[in-house]
Amino acid sequence: MVDHPDTHTPDGPPPVLTVKPGDAMCRLDEMADPDSRAFIMQRGEESEEILVIREGDEAFGYVNVCPHRFVPLNWKPHVFLNYDKTRILCVVHAATFDKRDGSCLGGPCPGQALEQVALRVENGVIFLAD
Ligand code: FES
Repeated sequence: MVDHPDTHTPDGPPPVLTVKPGDAMCRLDEMADPDSRAFIMQRGEESEEILVIREGDEAFGYVNVCPHRFVPLNWKPHVFLNYDKTRILCVVHAATFDKRDGSCLGGPCPGQALEQVALRVENGVIFLAD
């Protein structure tokens, strides 16, 4: 586990950690491949929930807001992928999005995309970009 001031619960899903630009978020190997995880991104006084998708040795980040109705994509913490984990899913009206660029692949959001959040991966650790 990446050294982080927030505590971990021994059972159940990991807590939704708050991260700032430049912070280490988690190790790639703490997530299944592929998998998703939620974080709170804090920039100054502003904060918003983001999701991170692990895909092999890469990670992709998005703001957790569906472009269809501007609501969160998920109902369960950290769960943002469809059943076979091939796409990001909005559970409200079943829009699906590309894991690698956030573009809408199906559902009521043609031509739209999730807002990307810049991440970087160094030595197997995912960081929120500065
Ligand atoms: S709110 Fe996401 S598909 Fe409608």
